[in-house]
Amino acid sequence: MGDMYMIKNKDDYIMPKRSIFFLLLILLLLPLSVFAAESDLNKTLIVYYSLTGNTRTSCEALQGTLGADIVEIKDLKKRSGKWGFFKTAIASLFGKHTKIEPENPNFSPYANIILASPIWTGKLSMAIRTLIDNNRFDEKKVVIFTTTNAFEKEKYKEKARKLVRKAGGDVVGYYQILAKEKVNDKKIDRTKGQIIEDTLALVPEIKKLFFLEQ
Ligand SMILES: Cc1cc2nc3c(=O)[nH]c(=O)nc-3n(C[C@H](O)[C@H](O)[C@H](O)COP(=O)(O)O)c2cc1C
Repeated sequence: MGDMYMIKNKDDYIMPKRSIFFLLLILLLLPLSVFAAESDLNKTLIVYYSLTGNTRTSCEALQGTLGADIVEIKDLKKRSGKWGFFKTAIASLFGKHTKIEPENPNFSPYANIILASPIWTGKLSMAIRTLIDNNRFDEKKVVIFTTTNAFEKEKYKEKARKLVRKAGGDVVGYYQILAKEKVNDKKIDRTKGQIIEDTLALVPEIKKLFFLEQ
């Protein structure tokens, strides 16, 4: 080992010079790697549940423009059909939980989380409430994003915020997209195009909240 740095002839100078070169290279690259780690820390995850597709439509539009990762939470209970909707509404009214998949998504790589859900009987869907109650959101900026037939009253929104805060999350925003509108005194479904348009209009604000590049 000691021989390595002994100067016997001109060629022996090569080793120390190389070492200095690599040392300088490492010193130069170090700030870059710290920068890469910092920008990773600003990653965004969209976590959503959708029964009839409206919330999914919004989340897929958000994913594209925010460059976010996305996880769909599945409710393992059957909820389709009129009877399914009725049972769902009753269970939701009583604040029930449900079985979901995945139960514990990995939030650790993300600084920003969008929790997206339909509104059922004035509350976040059972799948998203179950997710919030069984996970921690410490040091995460959370945006609550819902699709509804009618805008929620502030007191219901505050209940949803409290749930997330109890799980450690910092709720920085709450957005709602209307899935129905009144035309000639009749409530009709809004089109996917309208839902996407309303969702994309929120992107600059969400980017600001998450300190993402505009
Ligand atoms: C069981 C049930 C209860 C609902 N309760 C409400 C409600 O209280 N207020 C509201 O505005 N919309 C309510 N809706 C409508 C949904 O929030 C709305 O259609 C939403 O966009 C559905 O999202 P999804 O297509 O992603 O499942 C309810 C829908 C269902 C199925």
